[in-house]
Amino acid sequence: MPLKSYGLEGVVAAESELSCIDGEKGILEYRGYDVHKLAKNSSFEEVAFLLWYGYLPKKKEFEKFKNDLRNRREVPEEIVELLKLLPSTTHPMIALRTAISFLSSFDERLEDYSEERNMERSKRLLAVFPTIVAYFDRIRNGKEVIPPDPHLNHTANFLYMLRGERAGEIETRVLDLDFLLHAEHTMNASTFTARISASTLADMYSGIVAAIATLMGPLHGGASQKVMEMLLEIGEVDNVEGYVKRALAAGERIMGFGHRVYKVMDPRAIELRKLAQELGEYTGDLTWYEISEKLREVVYREKGLHPNVDFYSASIYANLGIPVDMFVCMFAIARVAGWTAHMIEQYRDNRLIRPLQRYVGRKNLKYIPLEDR
Ligand SMILES: CC(C)(COP(=O)(O)OP(=O)(O)OC[C@H]1O[C@@H](n2cnc3c(N)ncnc32)[C@H](O)[C@@H]1OP(=O)(O)O)[C@@H](O)C(=O)NCCC(=O)NCCS
Repeated sequence: MPLKSYGLEGVVAAESELSCIDGEKGILEYRGYDVHKLAKNSSFEEVAFLLWYGYLPKKKEFEKFKNDLRNRREVPEEIVELLKLLPSTTHPMIALRTAISFLSSFDERLEDYSEERNMERSKRLLAVFPTIVAYFDRIRNGKEVIPPDPHLNHTANFLYMLRGERAGEIETRVLDLDFLLHAEHTMNASTFTARISASTLADMYSGIVAAIATLMGPLHGGASQKVMEMLLEIGEVDNVEGYVKRALAAGERIMGFGHRVYKVMDPRAIELRKLAQELGEYTGDLTWYEISEKLREVVYREKGLHPNVDFYSASIYANLGIPVDMFVCMFAIARVAGWTAHMIEQYRDNRLIRPLQRYVGRKNLKYIPLEDR
């Protein structure tokens, strides 16, 4: 009898050198480096290098790498035209998914699966995600797009293309660390999707489109949008207690809490909590942070659940002025680093991913011809 594991809990689906989690101790490492140490000393671009190449870059290598990314930020004019064709009510993740799918048409060597080409594609994908997200937001608001600024780093440039003016140092650093903390996270649903796609030898864009689609769901990356909707509904600290009790009594989930692997507080949430407070103090608006803190206390008391990565990132995005429906795009902008790294790993040592099912339907039915039914 094959093993039954709903939600594939406890199933090892691949070997990977990219990241590891200790859910009991609350440890997350990228390529052997503790995520807290990386958050203290590193940047999102450096972590992308680490994930793809397996080591931390030397100064010169890193300069060249950042330059490589900078040179790949522009998107073909046709992509801009496509974004203009989409109804302004389109969810930004759907716009991103559609644009990445379209982008594959411009890859003249789509059939070339060499690691060199896939590394090149990874850089291109990572470089254009912020451009597409920022362009779509401006287009849907009837504004001119703002081309990438090669003088700015990945995150600063994203905020610039989105707002039309340069962001402050603290804002840029907070979002860059948020990206760093979202860059990779073992065999989560969207990463698994990307690996399944690679295991069929589908091209990299196809896997990334599938991963974007999977990330959207509210039980995965879509949770941060739901967290913000909850914070807005709660409105003030005094309403937290009543909200949580009512929601739990109604059997509802409190978004941004709980995790399949972590049994203690998610190490990314520990970092994001500090960043949410720092940013709130900087902007002078601690409303969302303070409601979040009360939620953390009440949900733990009532249900024993800890916040996950999507919880404090909602307050951060809100304080950066990022529209609520774009929250999940922030996750995608970061996680494309991990998705591409996983796909490269999968192509390198591939075996088709093809699990079993347990059939629970009817059997041995007598067939009745159409005219006799
Ligand atoms: C992340 C998540 C999907 C993990 O789910 P999972 O490992 O499949 O765990 P289960 O759905 O089996 O939940 C186990 C128990 O905890 C409860 N639980 C888990 N998360 C909960 C939450 N956020 N709010 C309320 N109860 C929750 C479930 O109701 C269940 O309780 P029961 O045993 O009394 O029925 C789940 O915690 C969740 O839905 N969280 C909210 C969405 C979210 O924040 N997603 C982002 C993840 S990074």
